[in-house]
Amino acid sequence: MKQEIKWGIIGLGKIANKFAEGLAPVENAVLYAVASRDSENAASFSKKHNAQVAYGSYSQLMQDENVDVIYIATPHVFHHDLTLDCIRHGKAVLCEKPFAMDLEEAEAMVKISKKEKVFLMDALWTMFLPHFQFVLKKVNSGELGKVKSLKADFGFSAEFDKTKRLFNKSLGGGSLLDIGIYPVFLAYSILGNPSKVIANAQFTETGVDANCDIKFQYDEGVEADLFSTFLERTPTIAEIEMEKGKIILNTRFHEPTSVTIISEDKEETLDFEMDTNGYFYEADHVTKMLQAGKTESDILDLEKTLDIMRLLDRIKSEIGLSYK
Ligand SMILES: NC(=O)c1ccc[n+]([C@@H]2O[C@H](COP(=O)([O-])OP(=O)(O)OC[C@H]3O[C@@H](n4cnc5c(N)ncnc54)[C@H](OP(=O)(O)O)[C@@H]3O)[C@@H](O)[C@H]2O)c1
Repeated sequence: MKQEIKWGIIGLGKIANKFAEGLAPVENAVLYAVASRDSENAASFSKKHNAQVAYGSYSQLMQDENVDVIYIATPHVFHHDLTLDCIRHGKAVLCEKPFAMDLEEAEAMVKISKKEKVFLMDALWTMFLPHFQFVLKKVNSGELGKVKSLKADFGFSAEFDKTKRLFNKSLGGGSLLDIGIYPVFLAYSILGNPSKVIANAQFTETGVDANCDIKFQYDEGVEADLFSTFLERTPTIAEIEMEKGKIILNTRFHEPTSVTIISEDKEETLDFEMDTNGYFYEADHVTKMLQAGKTESDILDLEKTLDIMRLLDRIKSEIGLSYK
């Protein structure tokens, strides 16, 4: 077993900083190299996070023989091409969410990872958080009976700026792909693929969704109501109504938080406090998968990623959003 996994990061913006902090305490992992389009940014990022090498281009990092795995932290529109390039250089990849712009891109990414037998995973970090794993186990245990309905929202007020990632269509802007993916992921993780998807959205002048209201319908009348918005701050909680109680993932449900369980005779809130930021868990998981020689995660496998991408495509088609 390989002892130390050497990480590289490309695209040194907001999330790359948070991820680097989460990676620091992971055992048998080191932030070895970072790459930016701007060498000054690479130098200051590497100083801040103690990386050994700073590159002023992404391709230089991909060519570095010492790098085992690359975390892609650029805007969504670049995820597909960069993943393909990294895998062609034999590098394992952890790719930020949304994994790709659509199912077609995601399928090409999965195909090359399988062909080259190189590890690839979607960075939907929520999956690895202790409170989320606890909720999945609680639901699947059947203690509270079956799920009757679910609702989840994610909203914040974003300052409108045509040029920035959130609103710029050419950078993959829009609330669905940026934050709506979390309620979608939650519903999928709890209830699986819906039989019907209904969705409505309000659009910005840049042609991306400012908000997105989604309903997933399942057999036996089970429904999930999901919502994302850049127009206002919303509670950002998830509530799962069950036959014999209710599970609430408190605000903000997609990141480390507490969980309230209401059953017929009691109500309790469990805190899932942690010493490090939540990105630790996905970084730790990928490190372990690579040490074990896996080419796919055994928790967030690529079939799940393709299901999520398929759902996002169904929603985009319902609201009339296309990035092509
Ligand atoms: N998991 C999470 O919690 C989470 C949270 C926020 C965002 N994300 C995801 O992470 C990705 C990046 O988001 P972010 O908020 O970190 O964005 P950001 O702050 O704008 O950073 C993105 C970085 O990508 C690089 N980049 C390459 N080409 C670019 C271009 N044409 N325009 C702008 N940037 C470009 C830049 O790095 P260099 O200049 O260094 O090359 C930039 O700093 C998105 O896909 C987003 O959905 C995930």
